[in-house]
Amino acid sequence: MTATDTPTTLQFTRTRLPVPTHLPVIITIDGPAGTGKSTVARLLAQRLGLDFLDTGAMYRAAAAIMLDRKIDPEEIGELVSAVMGADLHFDWTTDPPTILAWDDPMDHRIRQPDVTGAVSQVATIGELRQHMVRKQRVIAAQHPRLVTEGRDQGSLVFPDAEVKFYLDADPGVRARRRAEQLREAGNEVDVEKLREQILERDRIDSTRSDGPLICPRDAIRIDTSELDLDSVVTLLEKHVRDRIGALIASDGE
Ligand code: DC
Repeated sequence: MTATDTPTTLQFTRTRLPVPTHLPVIITIDGPAGTGKSTVARLLAQRLGLDFLDTGAMYRAAAAIMLDRKIDPEEIGELVSAVMGADLHFDWTTDPPTILAWDDPMDHRIRQPDVTGAVSQVATIGELRQHMVRKQRVIAAQHPRLVTEGRDQGSLVFPDAEVKFYLDADPGVRARRRAEQLREAGNEVDVEKLREQILERDRIDSTRSDGPLICPRDAIRIDTSELDLDSVVTLLEKHVRDRIGALIASDGE
């Protein structure tokens, strides 16, 4: 490493430089549905020159496989072996990366309402979660400069991540955000019903025995209720730059 290709700590913290390529860095973003985790994680990864992993897409793909192959949700062995056989992986040449099962793109299928309706229950299956955790660690070994988002990334999958965030927001705000997205896509919406669905998803996500949704002890907790998207990304970026700046400084000592 030469002085010309190593940014100084100050350069890195004050500018828009990507994270230096010699630094492996895992940034986790956990939190409930409707806090904007996916969009925030993708934009943060872009700003820092890191890869972006959407682990919710993996659970959604498992739910889509269950529905499309007409697998009984009680037949856990059959479901887990179908998901293992599908070899879920991402095409990293697209932004965001596209999830594939049996080498077929699943990005459209996993956002459809029947998948959204089934995924919370599918994500409670312990054997499936263990498989996903293993896959996510393999992905991180292949992409060691990563912003990863989900429900258990900082608490369980990457306990040694360099920076951990937990995004939260008032359930009413989360329901209104979801309603806006659905209206933009031309759907009719009932905000109160959406709020109830969000609370039910929170309940399922936070009470399951494997990888429940919790705020990791060492995570930076951010309430996004009153913040717009750009402010959230800028706030996270600042925390990461401060932390990586300190890592660069200790690296050079
Ligand atoms: O973030 P999302 O809506 O795409 O997530 C889909 C579902 O998967 C949601 O019910 C929570 C679950 N999930 C999970 O249990 N663990 C993760 N790491 C990511 C998502």
